[in-house]
Amino acid sequence: MSERRVILDVDTGHDDAVAIMIAASAPELTLEAITVTAGNQTLDKTLSNTLNLCDALGIEAPVFAGMTKPLMRDLVPAARIHGESGLDGPVFQPRKKIAEKEHAAVALARMVTEAPPNSLTLIAVGPLTNVAMAIRLEPTVATKLRELIIMGGSIGRGNVTPSSEFNIHADPEAAAIVFSSGAPITMVGLDVTTKITLDEARLASLSSIGGPAAEIFSKSMGNYMAACRHYLGEYPAMHDPSCVAYAIEPKLMTLREYHVEVEYSGTFTLGRTVVDTAGVTKKAPNARVGVDADETIFWPLLARALGHWSRG
Ligand code: RIB
Ligand code: CA
Repeated sequence: MSERRVILDVDTGHDDAVAIMIAASAPELTLEAITVTAGNQTLDKTLSNTLNLCDALGIEAPVFAGMTKPLMRDLVPAARIHGESGLDGPVFQPRKKIAEKEHAAVALARMVTEAPPNSLTLIAVGPLTNVAMAIRLEPTVATKLRELIIMGGSIGRGNVTPSSEFNIHADPEAAAIVFSSGAPITMVGLDVTTKITLDEARLASLSSIGGPAAEIFSKSMGNYMAACRHYLGEYPAMHDPSCVAYAIEPKLMTLREYHVEVEYSGTFTLGRTVVDTAGVTKKAPNARVGVDADETIFWPLLARALGHWSRG
């Protein structure tokens, strides 16, 4: 049995797909399930992208379809960045893999309830709608987890507004439920993920590894890079993959314990993770927040993942 049992909650998207590749191939992890939420695109598309990727790479983890929209708001997909399909670039063969019948939120609540305490790690790399619903269904979900690693938020700037990061902004009410749940949260925000970015040279080097995963990586990251350069003026950050790499090797990130609140009623600050770095609220920390990252740890883990499928 591998050291770390993992459930991945995704809104597949380009970087979610890379996170799935790393999680499915790491000898340090056992990917027990993938739950899917709407986010980067509508649920039908994020689910299709997830199933296509798993089918193409023979990833056997069960896939569960979850929430079709945020708890209180309309879904605002990130089509500019991830495209109309949510994973523009790769072309997949007709797939055989189908989603499980159980709703993702119900499955999350069941799997965590059935597992021994502190045995499951949930890595959430999309809006927190499924996670919030699971916690509402079964509150012990929050306290039974070994760790809840969240790609979301930031101490500093946002990426959809000056104040807020996409996953939190997409469903701030869900994020507020999760951050106040008592779950053992590790927040992987833009402060660290934007320190791990893919440039042309590295894309070419990783694509040259060969095999089906490297081919999917090359085609998807080519699109993702073009969109990020055009719309954001920056190289694509490895937001979601960084969370999985941290689960494999915690030395990837420097963490600080802070109290974090989520703004869900602001005008200019809606979706902001308000991180009390100075301790002015005197409130007990509710998250370990990434403040720095060592990208030299990340890239070899990604290369190893892509190489997992090149050996035939
Ligand atoms: O802000 C980055 C996050 O938003 C990533 O999870 C990306 O996939 C998008 O969902
Ligand atoms: Ca994502």
